Amino acid sequence: MKKIPTPPLFSFLITLIVIFSHGATSISQQFREAPQFYNAPTCPKLGQEEAAQLVPDGQICSSEAVHVAMTLDAAYLRGSMAAILSTLQHTSCPQNVFFHFVASASANASLLSSTVAASFPYLSFQIYPFRDSAVAWLISTSIRSALDCPLNYARSYLADLLPLCLRRVVYLDSDLILLDDISKLADIPLTGGKVLAAPEYCNANFTSYFTPTFWSSPSLSLTFANRKPCYFNTGVMVIDLEKWRGGGYTARIEEWMEVQNHRWNQHGLGGDNFRGLCRELHPGPVSLLHWSGKGKPWARLDAGCPCPLDALWAPYDLLKPPYSFDS
Ligand SMILES: *[C@@H]1O[C@H](CO)[C@@H](O)[C@H](O)[C@H]1NC(C)=O
Ligand SMILES: *[C@@H]1O[C@H](CO)[C@@H](O)[C@H](O)[C@H]1NC(C)=O
Repeated sequence: MKKIPTPPLFSFLITLIVIFSHGATSISQQFREAPQFYNAPTCPKLGQEEAAQLVPDGQICSSEAVHVAMTLDAAYLRGSMAAILSTLQHTSCPQNVFFHFVASASANASLLSSTVAASFPYLSFQIYPFRDSAVAWLISTSIRSALDCPLNYARSYLADLLPLCLRRVVYLDSDLILLDDISKLADIPLTGGKVLAAPEYCNANFTSYFTPTFWSSPSLSLTFANRKPCYFNTGVMVIDLEKWRGGGYTARIEEWMEVQNHRWNQHGLGGDNFRGLCRELHPGPVSLLHWSGKGKPWARLDAGCPCPLDALWAPYDLLKPPYSFDS
């Protein structure tokens, strides 16, 4: 994990393109109930500190808690369930983890809520509706259609969607599992004006991300002058919400979305990366596995052609097999 300096935020936009898709509207799947997880004796007791406040549903807006934000929709529910389970299973203070789910305002929130609560009866969570129309007009039609789902962009509105008393949040995609304590991730220091921490990539060639007209416009291309262009994967982010709000980053991202949408976007990035190919682990300790890109472990497992790494995802799968009739 590298810390990203405050400007430029255009890189955020670039990676929004590398994200996966959502869809579907009803929940046809049945999920098992996860075991209950308990805090270790050393865990802080929430709500004891002075800054503790109540968030809308009566939960504690504690800075000692780990606040996790994820999107929630029917199409990726199986992935979300596995991500939640893996988070709880690997943290020493699972009862101090709060989940903040962002769902499309057009989704059936009570159905999503009851589905999550059925598998995690002890989970502290809240669902926030996201109005798709807030971003639909900003999304480039030339970007591959899977990305057109507005909920993919909800991550850039977290500072507006979540309660103001939340100061820091860990955003997680639904296609990953934690293998380490999420509190380590949540505690990453964001010093020196850093707004967020995310995995950073600096070996991309940005030439093809914009049109020649973009590059010939001094005001736009100067954004890159004397800078090493990097982008970061927005699938795992630690966000300082206060600094985000203070810097007005939501509006800055919208500006760049407009630039890409209406004038300068040459094409979507790469399309289906790694389709049909299995990726391998980098050597060294692994805290988190992220199946970004098109191929999802649950789809390959169902199809009977999993990649080797999918075996690491399988133990967190809460989906009930279709022939199981227990309640
Ligand atoms: C939402 O889901 C609930 C089940 O939790 C169902 O009773 C209700 O009819 C659904 N609402 C809509 C608008 O589909
Ligand atoms: C980046 O890609 C462009 C073509 O899209 C090429 O002309 C340029 O040499 C590349 N730059 C680097 C540093 O590889």
